[in-house]
Amino acid sequence: MRESSSGEAIKLVKDCLNYLRFHHDLEPAELSATYPEIFHLTPSHHGVDALLRDRTKKLVNEKALDVVREDHLPTLEDVRKEFEKCHQCRLCKERKNIVFGVGNEQAKLVFIGEAPGRDEDLKGEPFVGRAGQLLTKIINAMGLKREDVYITNIVKCRPPGNRNPLPDEIAACEPYLMKQLEVINPRLICALGTVAAQILLKTDKKISILRGQFYYYQGIKVLPTFHPAFLLRNPEYKRVVWDDMQLLMKEY
Ligand code: URA
Repeated sequence: MRESSSGEAIKLVKDCLNYLRFHHDLEPAELSATYPEIFHLTPSHHGVDALLRDRTKKLVNEKALDVVREDHLPTLEDVRKEFEKCHQCRLCKERKNIVFGVGNEQAKLVFIGEAPGRDEDLKGEPFVGRAGQLLTKIINAMGLKREDVYITNIVKCRPPGNRNPLPDEIAACEPYLMKQLEVINPRLICALGTVAAQILLKTDKKISILRGQFYYYQGIKVLPTFHPAFLLRNPEYKRVVWDDMQLLMKEY
């Protein structure tokens, strides 16, 4: 079967998984009654994830799904290769490096920032400057390592002078973010700062209003919080961010 059909089949399975998660959040009792074999065996979300992932693998392994027979699941490397050809917006002209993302391809938690700064552009890795070091400390304080999570940005090339990314730059880049998330299929997203939160949640509300609550992006739970660069300038907000991280860890 063709590669695209295989990709579509895998996407369908993932969509089903996200749909189940979404409804389990809204109507846990009803869904448990409808799918007792899933929810009675594995009441937690992660259990559902694991079960459905296993089932997906089993289907692939047993070649029960014709369409995925001779194919491989798309990887982040596939998405990165596709992105390396991207010249869809002006940011490709001045970038030193693409800042695609870093971390665990099977992360349960993905941090999404705004766009690379100077340090990130030079190194080709997100969140490596001062704000990045603070993000690493936050991740460590949650009992995790950078390698446990995945870190990326809404926009993958540095906007000149660290200006905010423009709407057409965001629009050109968002499909790649969606593909990254499709591959990783995380349980949780943490949106760092106004730009990430507003783009993922399709709103123009301020981060101070949005933070501290869960929303959905592509069926994945999103918790917005303040950007680490904001925390460097306003350390008194660290407490609030820590409260947000506790919420994330409860769902992790
Ligand atoms: N700020 C961001 O939003 N992303 C980075 O990668 C670095 C700083």
